[in-house]
Amino acid sequence: MTMHIAKAAFLIAALSPSAVRAAPDTRHMAALQEEGRAVFKENCASCHGPGIGNPGLAHKPGTAALQAKYAGAVPALLEQRTDMAPEMIAYFVRNGISVMPMFRKTEVSDAQLRALEAYLTRNSKPPRR
Ligand code: HEC
Repeated sequence: MTMHIAKAAFLIAALSPSAVRAAPDTRHMAALQEEGRAVFKENCASCHGPGIGNPGLAHKPGTAALQAKYAGAVPALLEQRTDMAPEMIAYFVRNGISVMPMFRKTEVSDAQLRALEAYLTRNSKPPRR
């Protein structure tokens, strides 16, 4: 008897609209983040990746600049940050800063930028109010 109730409760939960919507969204998000990881590797990792920079430099230029800027308050590696918002990433990608070039839509499309945002904010906490 308890088994039947448990099964019924499971079915009701599984068939509720929120459960039906949640599954595809999660799959979509995972695919988007995976695409974003590839976009990052292709366009950003040369400056924002781990490992040493040009001969004589301890870090790649983006990682080195962010290490100097934040002095360890946030990770120097963009892929480890938990404080970035999609709008902020889009701003820097489309405008550039210092030695970071701006990326045109023919280089990183809007769709690729959305994927990049999904990847780089995958561990972000909701903004503080
Ligand atoms: C030629 C090297 C270079 C490339 C390529 C590059 N960046 Fe940067 N990026 C930098 C540097 C250097 C800074 C820091 C500039 C400063 O504030 O002094 C930076 C800063 C940023 C910031 C601001 C972070 C902060 O907290 O201030 C973001 C976001 C960013 N880059 C994202 C990207 C993304 C995404 C890509 C790939 C589409 C990319 N960058 C490609 C060099 C690069």
